[in-house]
Amino acid sequence: MLTIALSKGRLAEQAIELLERAGYDCNAAKEKSRKLILEDEKTGLRFIMAKPADVPTYVEYGAADLGVVGKDTLLEEGRQLYEVIDLGFGKCRMCVAGPKELKDGKLDSIPNKRVGTKYPNITRAYFEGVKKESVEIIKLNGSVELAPLIGLAEVIVDIVESGRTLYENGLDVIETVADISARVVVNRVSMKMKADELRPMIDKLKVEVEKMNQEKEG
Ligand code: PRP
Repeated sequence: MLTIALSKGRLAEQAIELLERAGYDCNAAKEKSRKLILEDEKTGLRFIMAKPADVPTYVEYGAADLGVVGKDTLLEEGRQLYEVIDLGFGKCRMCVAGPKELKDGKLDSIPNKRVGTKYPNITRAYFEGVKKESVEIIKLNGSVELAPLIGLAEVIVDIVESGRTLYENGLDVIETVADISARVVVNRVSMKMKADELRPMIDKLKVEVEKMNQEKEG
């Protein structure tokens, strides 16, 4: 039996679609219910529906053998696991954003900046690790764009997908921190102990991702 941790929501739907294209029967996972564990003895697949931020935790501890999760969550959580496939969907960017006036290098001239974010670890790694600058990180839980509008922080570090939220709030991307997309992650022990099941699954998924990428290009 393989246990697969899915990020509840759109990523889960796309992951299920991909597994089906790769030849895995995912009817159990498509059951419309509030059950959090969806298991099919015939197919040997068990799906757990987790909060996205918890998927790496389930996989690191071996509660799930494999998971599908955004790179943003992986960077923020910093868990010990193998990242084996970039699925190429769920694409967005992790950005420093703020008032347009801070573009073109002006951000660097503000001393002792406050940065609002749902991603304190990514923010620290970027400002302290990459830019060698110490900043005050203010942890928020959503609607992060409010922070610079209301004077809580000079800038934010957040996900930008279409850019619409920033645009409609008079903000703009100032710097890009990382490109984000959905990834397949695998527990390190499972990779050895369940190699007979996991290796073929990873190989089949890679083939489907390659096909999808070619379809997008063509
Ligand atoms: C995310 C993110 C941005 C928005 C970006 O928020 O935090 O606010 O989506 O998308 P866009 O560039 O297409 O506008 P989410 O909807 O997850 O809600 P949140 O504000 O509660 O985090």
